[in-house]
Amino acid sequence: MKLLITGGAGFIGSNFVHHILKTYPDYEIINLDALTYAGNLENLKDFDNEPRYTFVKGDICDKALVEELVAKVDIVVHFAAESHVDRSIFDSEAFVRTNVIGTHTLLEAARKAGNKRFHHVSTDEVFGSLGADEAPFSEITPYDPRSPYSASKAGSDHLVRAYFHTHNLPITISNCSNNYGPYHFPEKLIPLIITNLIEGKEIPIYGDGLQVRDWLYVEDHCKAIDLIIHQGKIGETYCVGGASEKPNLEIAKAILKLLGKDEGLIKYVQDRKGHDRRYAIDFSKIKSQLGWEPQVTFEEGLQKTVAWFLENEAWWKNVRSGQYQEYYNQQYKK
Ligand code: NAD
Ligand code: DAU
Repeated sequence: MKLLITGGAGFIGSNFVHHILKTYPDYEIINLDALTYAGNLENLKDFDNEPRYTFVKGDICDKALVEELVAKVDIVVHFAAESHVDRSIFDSEAFVRTNVIGTHTLLEAARKAGNKRFHHVSTDEVFGSLGADEAPFSEITPYDPRSPYSASKAGSDHLVRAYFHTHNLPITISNCSNNYGPYHFPEKLIPLIITNLIEGKEIPIYGDGLQVRDWLYVEDHCKAIDLIIHQGKIGETYCVGGASEKPNLEIAKAILKLLGKDEGLIKYVQDRKGHDRRYAIDFSKIKSQLGWEPQVTFEEGLQKTVAWFLENEAWWKNVRSGQYQEYYNQQYKK
């Protein structure tokens, strides 16, 4: 099988490239990534000399490039997105462009190439925000996005579904909860806390810190996508979650404990605008139909993640200094 992975230099996409190349010795990958601030080729340096892996620096809104690449593969696995909620609050233009127009460009290319198989990686944020006692999100929860990020992802999901219904494009969608693990960009909560603490800095907690997220170790998300692309039913959506709802404050305290630091380093800061209170996922469909459930407990996953950041200080220090953006020039423009 030959896969076009979009956004493969980002957090989840690069974990997925690792997963596929290690799990399937005969699979080939083309990784199309624009290398925005979130793209980091250091995540994939293990494959610099791997003949089954090709990196293409490019934009998913570039119609000609996308058509050329989609024609070469059996399946598109679409991760590329602007993914950070806070950035979408400050400036949402790139979110609409990449998440909506970029997804549309890929869908059109898949249609023109003879209806190529298409898997769209989406988020639980499209379903909105839950109250403390409300049932978790599932595949039948109505869409109710509340940030520019989640609205743009919801728009992309609707386009993907429309291409299934209108053009019979063989699509699947996964809506996943919060991921964490290796290569997580340190603007997001868990890697921000870990790296700040290693550097002896305070950790910013928005509002009262009691917002709840459902955390999933990234390797488990990759395994879910792997199952969906091989065994998922065409036209279907699968909700993927971690069975691990935690308030942000509890996450902060758990990491403080793992690193032997004092809770005085918690700094309450101004809340995020329109901050969604709680996300939770009912993943019984993918469990009963495809046999997937999370393998890594939150305690184990958090320990592994903290250990990874301790062992890979050079990786996140390069991100913080901006040095990581030189990797493409060093490796590909020699
Ligand atoms: P990320 O921000 O770490 O990576 C995004 C990647 O997309 C980067 O490599 C970036 O360079 C690339 N990219 C951005 N714009 C592009 C463009 N126009 N053309 C080509 N490449 C472009 O994101 P992530 O956290 O790895 O998320 C991947 C996908 O999974 C996203 O679609 C996101 O909505 C979804 N998702 C993320 C989470 C999570 O917790 N991180 C949870 C559920 C779903
Ligand atoms: O639910 C899936 C989503 O999870 C993905 O679709 C997004 O791409 C991904 O970024 C993530 O969104 P969140 O907004 O939930 O993740 P973030 O790490 O930004 O924030 C997690 C929680 O922590 C949220 O309640 C806001 C809070 N927070 C975040 C930061 C960065 C803080 O309290 N302080 C912070 O400094």
